[in-house]
Amino acid sequence: MKLLAIETSCDETAIAILECEGDENAARFTILGNALLSQIEIHREFGGVFPAVAKREHAKNLVPILEAALEEAEMLREDRQTFAEGLPERIAKLLEREPDLDEAFLASVSEMEVPDIDAIAVTAGPGLEPALWVGVNFAKALSIIWDKPLIAVNHMEGHTLSALLTEAGERTYELKDVQMPLLALLISGGHTELDAANVWREYQLIGQTRDDAVGEAFDKVARMLGLPYPGGPEVSKLAERDREDSRTNPYKLPRPMIDTNDCDFSFSGLKTSVLYLTKGKELTELEKEQLARAFEDAASDVLYAKASKALAQTGALTLAIGGGVSANAHIRRVFRERLPQDHPEVSLFIPSAFLTGDNAIMIAIAGFYSWLRKDFADIDELKANGNLSLSAS
Ligand code: KG4
Ligand code: ZN
Repeated sequence: MKLLAIETSCDETAIAILECEGDENAARFTILGNALLSQIEIHREFGGVFPAVAKREHAKNLVPILEAALEEAEMLREDRQTFAEGLPERIAKLLEREPDLDEAFLASVSEMEVPDIDAIAVTAGPGLEPALWVGVNFAKALSIIWDKPLIAVNHMEGHTLSALLTEAGERTYELKDVQMPLLALLISGGHTELDAANVWREYQLIGQTRDDAVGEAFDKVARMLGLPYPGGPEVSKLAERDREDSRTNPYKLPRPMIDTNDCDFSFSGLKTSVLYLTKGKELTELEKEQLARAFEDAASDVLYAKASKALAQTGALTLAIGGGVSANAHIRRVFRERLPQDHPEVSLFIPSAFLTGDNAIMIAIAGFYSWLRKDFADIDELKANGNLSLSAS
């Protein structure tokens, strides 16, 4: 089957078209089209993502991104559509809060052939609610106009499942033989959590941050060091420079909650420690590199310690790490080095670099599993939910 997926939860407008085959035990995905527009340059000016700005950019970009994804999948063909009576009005009503999108949408879809896809998947949450709504309304409009079923996807499940992919050829990936229980460590700008599943796709929250998400801490530390948004990759670059020189680090930072008997995290104290060391000081380049490294070391140690605790608690045999922060070279290194010693029975999955950040491929992956169960969303009922959680409880 072919699935078109839409992602607008934060600052990436993304649409992907995937050919999906197989079942829950063994699935195969081929990327037919993948278009993504990052708003990073726009948000950089403000030093972070403002929901209203993100929403406006998604509304502006969704139609061109749709056309680009269809074109790449060789599904963009000219045709003149005649809409059933009342349909344009229904679409206009649906998109009334997205005025830029409304006109561009009808102008575009009225001149293209209905593509050969079987369903439309969209991120329903979690994320920035105004941003999510644009994608959800756009997906509803496509579902109505093309008469295709709609699938609501949890963004965090997208991060989890896309971590489990293995390469199987050009633009082709497999997801199979996952040993249960599964533990997911989800680390992004908005989330830091551990979820376990004894049964495929039935998640239970094991632990989460009590304050800042780890990506948020990276972004804030970056700002303290005078680095641009998004700060994660910038902090990582500085820290790696210090690691290359393998110098001793004069900075020692706390590892909050590392010894507590639960799987929760806290990153705000760590961030505040960096603040004390930087406030009112003119740091040299060397000091910035050392601080970035000390911060990254502390964050990695805590993430590893809590994931390790959760593995012991749940008896998980598979660990999937997902979310934007899973791009971090040091965090990847720490897990790859320590896990085989401490938990030799556990298979570790970290996504390929191009899948770590937000994208629509992962939304299609998760959407496929709902399609297998015919778990479709009701167009009139589906709502964007900024706080959507992965666990049922
Ligand atoms: O998953 P994601 O793209 O968006 C959210 O759903 O939040 O994650 C974005 C977060 C940002 O905080 C960004 O700074 C962080 O991921 N990030 C990194 C790295 N690349 C992105 N953090 C640390 N090291 C990186 N290499
Ligand atoms: Zn994300």
